[in-house]
Amino acid sequence: MNAAKMSPRKPADSATMVSELMMPHQVNNLGHVFGGVVLSMVDRAAAVAAMRHSGHPSVTVSIDRVDFKEPIQSGEFVTCLAQVNFVGRTSMEVGVRVEAENLLSGVKRHTTSCLLTFVAIDRDHRPCEVPRLDTSEPEDARRYREGQRRREVRELLDRELERERGPRGKAAP
Ligand SMILES: CC(C)(COP(=O)(O)OP(=O)(O)OC[C@H]1O[C@@H](n2cnc3c(N)ncnc32)[C@H](O)[C@@H]1OP(=O)(O)O)[C@@H](O)C(=O)NCCC(=O)NCCS
Repeated sequence: MNAAKMSPRKPADSATMVSELMMPHQVNNLGHVFGGVVLSMVDRAAAVAAMRHSGHPSVTVSIDRVDFKEPIQSGEFVTCLAQVNFVGRTSMEVGVRVEAENLLSGVKRHTTSCLLTFVAIDRDHRPCEVPRLDTSEPEDARRYREGQRRREVRELLDRELERERGPRGKAAP
């Protein structure tokens, strides 16, 4: 890959917005939009941000955290705002904020927050290196540090559980 393609990029350069009007077939018996509908939008918005950042096809390797804070109703206009928080060698943590807008009153609510990890892949579908993140903006630097910490904690826990399971994974669920 040429040097320009690997030069550091700001999260704002790949930030992505995906919007959709929620319809009656997308709600459960309580009239709330299904979590899976929201997650599908979240995954698509995050995938676009990851591909814009890396310049490669990028696949979801993990949905790390989902917080459904408030229900969404049919007729609300839902917007997912995705941006890359942290990058490793081939992976990218993408944060997505979901807002629901009542089109009649104009009121917008923050309904959902998600963190996902994507991996950029090459022509052989193997992980490939992604550009560094330019975190010169203080808010981007904070998001980067928090993403890095989440990764460290996840890897620490994985190693601890692996040790507890032993070589043959006898204690695995
Ligand atoms: C993504 C995929 C190519 C990674 O292959 P792999 O051989 O596991 O790759 P590696 O072990 O080298 O890991 C690659 C990167 O992913 C990260 N990673 C792997 N598993 C992870 C997980 N569960 N959570 C977070 N990060 C993970 C690694 O830390 C590494 O990051 P780094 O390069 O920034 O250090 C492979 O797992 C895959 O194809 N998965 C299916 C993806 C898919 O189909 N998604 C759609 C959902 S159905």
